[in-house]
Amino acid sequence: MSSMVEFVLWCIMVISCSVAWATAGVHFSSLPNTLEVTAAINLSTATLPNGAAMAGRDQLVVSWWVKELSSSWEDSEYKTVKVKLCFAPVSQVDRQWRKTDEDLKKDKTCQFDMSEQPLHSNIKKNTIKWTVARDVPKGIYFVRAYALNPLGKEVAYGQSTNKKKTSNLFMVEPISGRHGSLDIATVVCSAFAIVSLFGFFMLEKWSAKKAELQKK
Ligand SMILES: *[C@@H]1O[C@H](CO)[C@@H](O)[C@H](O)[C@H]1NC(C)=O
Repeated sequence: MSSMVEFVLWCIMVISCSVAWATAGVHFSSLPNTLEVTAAINLSTATLPNGAAMAGRDQLVVSWWVKELSSSWEDSEYKTVKVKLCFAPVSQVDRQWRKTDEDLKKDKTCQFDMSEQPLHSNIKKNTIKWTVARDVPKGIYFVRAYALNPLGKEVAYGQSTNKKKTSNLFMVEPISGRHGSLDIATVVCSAFAIVSLFGFFMLEKWSAKKAELQKK
């Protein structure tokens, strides 16, 4: 009887362990920092003077490569590289929805996908030009790359900033405020145009009626 109870307990333990294993993501601190990542705003097309990138318009040029001489293990293990735009700590303060979590499945640091493609040995092929997506909010950012193994699990990382995420950060500004007020002006203008058109129409009708009355 006791062996039966033991067996059931053992089963429960095995099941809960595998559930926990299946739902938990890779822990960030377990990843080696073996990728080098550079990210820069393309200054020749930048629209803002202060070195910030405008969402929906400006381009980031991002490159990545394996830092150390690639061993055969890395060659087989570093299959693809996923590149993401991430919030720097200053833009995470008081924002639970951007919080960093050790468990990569719960981590909210890197919310914007930039690229996912096979890792090439030729760095030119590991370079992308990414136009900052329109939905990227105003904030301070860096770029992080994860090497994924053939099963799609993170096995290594690299980022365009230091470990504390304080250097080489860049700012993203939303599409300029002038654009918004321009839209409002357009709406007000068209509303005014419709009202005045209607007004002229009424005036015309009214004066035509008046003229007819005078004829009689
Ligand atoms: C920056 O943008 C210009 C114009 O689109 C392009 O010709 C140039 O290659 C870009 N620079 C980089 C480093 O990608």
